[in-house]
Amino acid sequence: MPDYETHDYDVVVVGAGGAGLRAAIEASAQGAKTALVCKSLLGKAHTVMAEGGIAAALGNVYSEDNWQVHFRDTMRGGKMLNNWRMAELHAREAPERVHELERWGALFDRTKDGRISQRAFGGHRFDRLAHVGDRTGLEMIRTLQQHAVHKGIDVFMECTISRLLKDGDRISGAVGYWRESGSVIVFRAKAVVLATGGIGKAWKITSNSWEYTGDGHSLAHWAGADLIDMEFVQFHPTGMVWPPSVRGILVTEGVRGEGGTLTNSEGERFMFRYIPEFFRAETADTVEEADRWFQDKNNNRRTPDLLPRDEVARAINAEVKAGRGSPHGGVYLDIASRRSAEEIKRALPSMYHQFKQLADVDITTTRMEIGPTCHYMMGGVRVDADTAASTVPGLFAAGEVAGGMHGANRLGGNSLSDLLVFGRRAGLSAAEYAKSLASAPRVNPQEADAVARELAAPFERDGESPYAVQRDLQSAMQELVGIIRTQPELEEALQKIQELKERAQHAGVEGNRQYNPGWHLALDLQSLLTVSEAVTRAALERKESRGAHTRDDFPKTEPEWGKVNIAVRQGPSGTMTIQKEPLPQMPGELAALLEEKK
Ligand code: FUM
Repeated sequence: MPDYETHDYDVVVVGAGGAGLRAAIEASAQGAKTALVCKSLLGKAHTVMAEGGIAAALGNVYSEDNWQVHFRDTMRGGKMLNNWRMAELHAREAPERVHELERWGALFDRTKDGRISQRAFGGHRFDRLAHVGDRTGLEMIRTLQQHAVHKGIDVFMECTISRLLKDGDRISGAVGYWRESGSVIVFRAKAVVLATGGIGKAWKITSNSWEYTGDGHSLAHWAGADLIDMEFVQFHPTGMVWPPSVRGILVTEGVRGEGGTLTNSEGERFMFRYIPEFFRAETADTVEEADRWFQDKNNNRRTPDLLPRDEVARAINAEVKAGRGSPHGGVYLDIASRRSAEEIKRALPSMYHQFKQLADVDITTTRMEIGPTCHYMMGGVRVDADTAASTVPGLFAAGEVAGGMHGANRLGGNSLSDLLVFGRRAGLSAAEYAKSLASAPRVNPQEADAVARELAAPFERDGESPYAVQRDLQSAMQELVGIIRTQPELEEALQKIQELKERAQHAGVEGNRQYNPGWHLALDLQSLLTVSEAVTRAALERKESRGAHTRDDFPKTEPEWGKVNIAVRQGPSGTMTIQKEPLPQMPGELAALLEEKK
């Protein structure tokens, strides 16, 4: 292929957040010639948005904690739809991955006796999140990045991958373009690891930045891999709501982990409303008594403000709908009356600066206005738990782009540990797979040529701006495929997505290929529309409410639906097929763990 810049690697890792960096480090450590390709600048990944900590049963604060309790919490949080083997590996291996990160230079906050400190997060029975103030993801990326750079991994920054290449059934590389020059780049590779993160940019209100357009999910789908659990999209309960320019920016769950409480416009600690047993017990006259009741019930020091994210996000949504919201359509989060200014600035320095600089609010004296924001995708590429291999030979996936680990709802803090555990496993398996190949797969030049022609197409069209298409897609997904769903709304969304696909095919761009964000978006629309369709079709199919998927028309959690994943595959000529498939059988000793203390 003389016309295109071409590179040869054993392993190409796409995405340079926590999972991608950890995968590249491992593949390189195994002796594989490794490339790390990222759409943005190195270090600018959604990993930094996991601010409050890494969940790992270190047992530093509560010695009773262990991997079995972490496994049980994760499965219950995921409403039992998790791939049990992934949840097991994750809970067992997370502590070692945290210690490894510390050996590589991460500076965690400490307990008084000098061990890694751990804080409370929703759905975790014990204080379990190893943290660095409220900048844990940032510290993780910094540490991994330094480690990766010293390993001599080749990094291709500001380079978007548009299609995976195949030799027969197996992966043979990837084609993309440099964002700066617009020129095409081809990777010949024995194995590809997808670590591209999520799909948040399909919604209007999101904590995700511009990069998160579902690229990895779509690359895998177009290459013939299975996606699972696409109906489960996590709305983090606390994003900023005001001013409009910052709407959706994450407010870490660490605020509630440090004691912050949620109130409505009537000053009520409304989360108690959403615990039916509380009303049955009718024991509390004051909020303090209510807190004590909840803590006794839960045998630890949680408050209902720290229930799992799906439950808190639904409660906030209901309060706003009932007219008890804040002036800008959220509710209040108060840490000022719970902690001293000094404590807040020490434990939550980023939140302090974020509100001061972006909203002119001093959180040491004033409550925050917050509301749900699209944050995380539970669904993704179906992978083998031990090897992170997808259903396409040579294609691996780790982190948010992989499905199964978190089931119907992820617990906060479980994503950073997921990235480390399965990033390492994906890098290891990809390197081993590459070594096992007798010869490098062949890249078909015509396949690369076809992608290059597709990349050029938006310049030859004179239709509307891609920004208009994205805006309408985001509105449709926000309004029709949000926290609460119904059949008519999902059908309407599907109809709109079909119309938007048509519009996207005609969307044109002006100018040239050099750093042209409109052109980049015109190309990203393909993946945005693909993942939006997959989410909507899967959400229509699942006729129950479970975890992050709430159907107003099917409000109950149905035992039969707890036995199946929904798989999304490519059908004939670009269509999408949906299939219910049984969950893998859990071994008896793990099932027994779930029964304990039910
Ligand atoms: O709230 C947070 O700090 C986010 C953490 C996570 O998504 O794991």
